[in-house]
Amino acid sequence: MDLEDLPGVGPAIAEKLREGGYNSIEAIAVASPAELVATAEIGEATAAKIINAAREAAEIGGFETGDRILERRSGVGKLTTGSKSLDSILGGGLETQAITEFYGEFGSGKTQIAHQLAVNVQLPPAKGGLNGSVIIIDTENTFRPERIKNMAEGLGLDYTDVLKNIHVARAFNSNHQILLVDKAEKLAEELKDTDKPVRLLIIDSSTAHFRSEYVGRGTLADRQQKINKHLHDALRFGDLNNAVIMITNQVQVRPDAFFGDPTRPIGGHIVGHTATFRLYLRKSKGDKRIARLVDSPNLPEAEAVFSVTTAGIRD
Ligand SMILES: Nc1ncnc2c1ncn2[C@@H]1O[C@H](COP(=O)(O)OP(=O)(O)OP(=O)(O)O)[C@@H](O)[C@H]1O
Ligand SMILES: [Mg+2]
Repeated sequence: MDLEDLPGVGPAIAEKLREGGYNSIEAIAVASPAELVATAEIGEATAAKIINAAREAAEIGGFETGDRILERRSGVGKLTTGSKSLDSILGGGLETQAITEFYGEFGSGKTQIAHQLAVNVQLPPAKGGLNGSVIIIDTENTFRPERIKNMAEGLGLDYTDVLKNIHVARAFNSNHQILLVDKAEKLAEELKDTDKPVRLLIIDSSTAHFRSEYVGRGTLADRQQKINKHLHDALRFGDLNNAVIMITNQVQVRPDAFFGDPTRPIGGHIVGHTATFRLYLRKSKGDKRIARLVDSPNLPEAEAVFSVTTAGIRD
């Protein structure tokens, strides 16, 4: 079924929808009317009609019985981090159809884990991969192909092959970053029927641009709303492509904290409610790092120790 088969969608509207990243019936089915109004310059009533028709066609949006949810979730894949202990607190690795957030101070290993996942996702499932390619939205210019080379060689892979399946875009500001998720959807659509469909989306860092652009108290609501939309776009990407969404986040120091850890992740509860799994990373001795799973729908709080080595993430 094409977009043009939906009631009220002619060639001109279909074109605008595709340009806006709505490439499939499924993408429209999970959109909000306001998003379609803005993207296709149509009225609210038309948008609602289009979305309803897409929902029926895609069989999305109604109640589902528990056994069907279990069946859909049986399609959930797991991606290894390279460390058995880190995998084990995550119940076997990072899940597809969910957002996993890694937050921690500078040098805690967030970007190193991102690089490792970009390599691991290309492995076959028997080795903890998803046989897929990866899209990286790099907001701090910290993607290093040299690190990919180290990590590919650490697994005995040809690094030139591995680099070909890593699609990197620099995000120059927060609006550009939001737009890049739409672009990622288009690229994923193109790669869908190849032997390396996109199974991982990395946003490193998810909040840095927002933090630097929205300063001062009056801008907080606006910032949180933008981050919220951005993360929901990312989650939609994960659902549509059965992909892992990995985001990183720095911490800020709370000057008012008298007890416990004086740091907290940027974006606060907005990121916290959208991310399905949150891991807090801390530096330990030498190349050791400590990860704590702080939030998960079905796993207990737990800690794991892992190392950042030249060959990559290890126990
Ligand atoms: N080639 C390498 N071999 C071994 N360890 C490395 C190598 N490159 C980086 N590291 C380790 O990784 C650390 C950097 O970690 P990383 O870049 O993941 O931090 P981060 O959490 O992303 O920080 P930031 O908040 O600044 O983005 C370095 O301090 C070093 O300990
Ligand atoms: Mg980093």
